[in-house]
Amino acid sequence: MPPHAHTSRVLSGMQPSGLLHLGNWLGALENWKALQEQYDCFFFVADWHALSTNYENTSRIKEFNRELLIDWLAAGIDPNRATVFIQSRIPEHAMLHLLLSMIVPIPWLERNPTYKEKREEIKGRDLSTYGFLGYPVLQAADILLYKPDYVPVGKDQLPHLELTREIARRFNSLYRPVFPEPKEHLTKFPKVLGTDGRKMSKSYGNTINLSDAEPVVRQKLKTMVTDPARVKRTDKGNPDICPVYDFHKIFSSPQTIEQVGRDCRTAAIGCIDCKKLVADGMVGRLAPIWEGRARLTATPGRVEEIVTEGSRRASEVAHRTLEEVTDAMKL
Ligand code: TRP
Ligand code: SF4
Repeated sequence: MPPHAHTSRVLSGMQPSGLLHLGNWLGALENWKALQEQYDCFFFVADWHALSTNYENTSRIKEFNRELLIDWLAAGIDPNRATVFIQSRIPEHAMLHLLLSMIVPIPWLERNPTYKEKREEIKGRDLSTYGFLGYPVLQAADILLYKPDYVPVGKDQLPHLELTREIARRFNSLYRPVFPEPKEHLTKFPKVLGTDGRKMSKSYGNTINLSDAEPVVRQKLKTMVTDPARVKRTDKGNPDICPVYDFHKIFSSPQTIEQVGRDCRTAAIGCIDCKKLVADGMVGRLAPIWEGRARLTATPGRVEEIVTEGSRRASEVAHRTLEEVTDAMKL
């Protein structure tokens, strides 16, 4: 009997849009890692989705796919537990996307809040494309092909998941019930702040990346913003409004968190020393990931081997679902 014969299924994907940062790691990957212990997990690199905003510059997609997979594996995604694959290796994603596109009313897509926000946010690129509008239809295909019980996503993805359920319902009522409606699995981790105190995000240039070497991590922390009221070393601080203290809460021991909190308020500790402490904690947590990255980089065939096997497993499931779909549609 296969190891996951009776467990619920989980599916999630990430766009390969550059290097993973602490926010992605703590917000998504740590959650995936916990889920793989309990569920039959499918995790994939959504490289076709990256085209929806980056169709003009495709030169680095392969490299980003590989880097993303290395980050996942180094962070503890276990290919013996989870099925790890790349979207573009499974043509069924494109085929189901096409079939679903026939039944999705355009207004459903036009009123999608993520569509409107992103189009506003990303200036200087022509996003009046068919593919950008249809992004959630491709995402629905990604999801429905695997009939997952849960889809772990961030809050920003909830409209896409709701749309996926609406598409599933429409398909089921037009033809016959093929797709169960997937439920979201929200990450509990609070949002991670970047070195400038805003939400950590690649587009703000305030990230600490999993692939940053130790000196880079330490340097980024040195220049990180603190409580702006602490101008001089003798100024008392308020840790509750300091993003460095947020990092302490994630990376330091309970004693250090307590101590730093107290010493900041009385100016017994300066920001330079406080940051050094947080850097030590962070480096301690990142070290195993750096080792994992180094190991995978040193064995060039390993990543390919893992996605080849993952894609083979994913392909079996996707193929079966697509047969049900074409059968239901009498094609
Ligand atoms: N849209 C998701 C994001 O930007 C990535 C994604 C693509 C995805 N297909 C998916 C997530 C399917 C979950 C399930 O984060
Ligand atoms: Fe922030 Fe630490 Fe400086 Fe206090 S001592 S303001 S917590 S960096």
